[in-house]
Amino acid sequence: MKFFIDTANLDEIKEAHDLGVLDGVTTNPSLMAKEGITGEDNIRAHYKTICDIVDDKVSAEVISTNFDEMIKEGKELAKIDDKIVVKVPMIKEGVKAIKYLSSEGIRTNCTLVFSAGQAILAAKAGATYLSPFIGRLDDISFDGLDLIEQIVHIYQTYGFDTQVLAASLRHTMHLVKCAEMGADVVTCPLKVITGLLNHPLTDAGLAKFLADHASAAAK
Ligand code: E4P
Repeated sequence: MKFFIDTANLDEIKEAHDLGVLDGVTTNPSLMAKEGITGEDNIRAHYKTICDIVDDKVSAEVISTNFDEMIKEGKELAKIDDKIVVKVPMIKEGVKAIKYLSSEGIRTNCTLVFSAGQAILAAKAGATYLSPFIGRLDDISFDGLDLIEQIVHIYQTYGFDTQVLAASLRHTMHLVKCAEMGADVVTCPLKVITGLLNHPLTDAGLAKFLADHASAAAK
């Protein structure tokens, strides 16, 4: 299973990378806006900087919503770096764009996915990655993890190549359950990755080891 971090914040990307467990990055227009990245040149430069930090893929989302513009934007984004994956929303024009970009050898990440039907469409169109949003489903009282399980089952049954990139993770149990269910990739905020470190028995055990060592050394 791969770990992607869901942010456009360079410090967080570097911190996750320095931990030695990060594969790639996903961004979206809201995350870019949060970092104050605006204007075509700045956006391209920011994506390039991110690509230079990480080893694996970096998702960059199109802003357009019609086929021709999405294709144009997607091709421009793909030129930034070999690691770029063009993120395309799950709308009719988006499905057409995914089909076209895939046929041109450009990797895509179909985003804003909330149903198994949408997942089937994206796979049929040839999406490289599929991003079902777990947390946003939980927010409206649907179990987002059920959707991950359903999609993994469907994709395995038919041997679809599209990778399940579980997105909108809010906590460590989301991540652990996605691993159990066979998601190919998870993308989440830094705190979810670092949250995996935490266990009170680890802290208590280490404190005792160090105390015993100190007391033996003092004798
Ligand atoms: C996925 O690629 C999205 O950027 C992201 O996971 C959305 O997460 P949110 O629901 O926490 O905004």
